[in-house]
Amino acid sequence: MKMKKIVLIAYIVVVSISSVFAGPLFDKFREKQQQELIDFGNEHLQHVGGHVFYPFGGPDVTYPLLMFPNFKVLTLVGLESAKLIKNYPVSLDNGSLSNLSSLYKRSFFITDQMASKAINVTALILKQLENLGASDVSISEIKDRQNAIEIKFFYNGKNRIIRYYKAGLDNKQINIKFLESLEPFDVVLFKAASYLPHQKSFSKFRKFVLNNCDTFVQDSTGIPYEYLKKGFDLNLHGKYLMPYKFPGGFEQVSFRKYSEKLNNETLNICFGYGCKKVPTNILIATRKEQNIL
Ligand SMILES: C[S@@+](CC[C@H](N)C(=O)[O-])C[C@H]1O[C@@H](n2cnc3c(N)ncnc32)[C@H](O)[C@@H]1O
Repeated sequence: MKMKKIVLIAYIVVVSISSVFAGPLFDKFREKQQQELIDFGNEHLQHVGGHVFYPFGGPDVTYPLLMFPNFKVLTLVGLESAKLIKNYPVSLDNGSLSNLSSLYKRSFFITDQMASKAINVTALILKQLENLGASDVSISEIKDRQNAIEIKFFYNGKNRIIRYYKAGLDNKQINIKFLESLEPFDVVLFKAASYLPHQKSFSKFRKFVLNNCDTFVQDSTGIPYEYLKKGFDLNLHGKYLMPYKFPGGFEQVSFRKYSEKLNNETLNICFGYGCKKVPTNILIATRKEQNIL
């Protein structure tokens, strides 16, 4: 009887601790990165409007929430599954927690790690919302699509919406009509996009965003400099030196020369691959004219 009581108390303690546990490394992230990202957004992205499109975004809602003070809708696309969860806040299993620690430690989620743990994007998004102090959270499935979730919430003085869609954006899987149905986008965000927009097998996607979007905020894994340099006003923050240890290279010599000429200060922000190993670069590109392709 006594033993049963002890087990019950231990269970209650574990359950209540796990439901408030922010995930490994969140405290460090909050201390070292959170304010830097907010300051960057307040200084450079105030004007960027309502709808942030984040292809290859996976479950990352922390960066867009902190960086775009005025967004109303965030649309994320990735290959991971998203299932309905009715309760908020959530407690994460160990696999999800280790994925979340990658975001807080390295600044991005790792595709292979997410696949090997078969994570549910919805849980990871909800945990990040809880960590950022979002309230009035409601979660629903998006009609007529599998693995598509809408989350409404209140954050930093405004009601906001996140929509996540599981969808392939490579030439074989891309559905342009589906992307058109999500428009208009005010800004496209790329971070740790596995250099996919550089690749031939993503040419249809690249063409779609270059034709349809007027502002890009990205690290060097996003749209290559060569596609942006003529038709867009470029505003580079930090320095671009080289890709960090990524199979396949994706070196951008002309971008490096452009960055060397500017000789900007280094950024104290982790934003994509190689944080603290190679300098961080955040490029804001704004269209000068229509139809540059
Ligand atoms: C390295 S993760 C980065 C996620 C997020 N941008 C971040 O910074 O944490 C790359 C993301 O790209 C997605 N991805 C990879 N191949 C894709 C494809 N063919 N179509 C759509 N998304 C893809 C993965 O599912 C994953 O969510």
